[in-house]
Amino acid sequence: MNLKPLKMQPNKNTVFDCAVIDVSKIHNDAGNITVVENGDNIPFDVKRVYYLYDIPGGEARGGHAHYELEQFIVAASGSFDVILNDGKNKKIVSLNRPNKALHIVPGLWREIDNFSSGAICLVLASHIYNENDYIREYREFLAYKK
Ligand code: TYD
Repeated sequence: MNLKPLKMQPNKNTVFDCAVIDVSKIHNDAGNITVVENGDNIPFDVKRVYYLYDIPGGEARGGHAHYELEQFIVAASGSFDVILNDGKNKKIVSLNRPNKALHIVPGLWREIDNFSSGAICLVLASHIYNENDYIREYREFLAYKK
């Protein structure tokens, strides 16, 4: 892993602080195993895991930012696009392999769209669920980034 240290002020984070990380793949003729382990190949400790699935065609998810939450997003099955936005720059990251994880730093607006049929979006998160950590209004996000 070659990650930049996290900025102390998440509102200064940009899309360029996010990277796609090659997580391990243990190859076996009977199939592959990918392991993500605290203290090894993830830059934060995982407190929560959730996954999006059964996403109807044409739907988009996300549409918010977090003050503190860091995430690893993985296409556990199928594919989708993550659109990252720091208020100035946008970056679209296509995920389609279970051994590639997008590291999303705090303080970025994100949307997820273009889900393939049967896609599973696996999210490893640095904190337990807390609605107070969300910025759900885009205008509020832009004001926070100023
Ligand atoms: P949200 O994070 O807004 O979903 P997405 O970004 O994928 O569109 O969450 C959708 C709903 O699910 C919202 O009402 C909160 C709830 N939720 C939890 O209760 N716990 C969780 O860990 C998550 C991620 C969501």
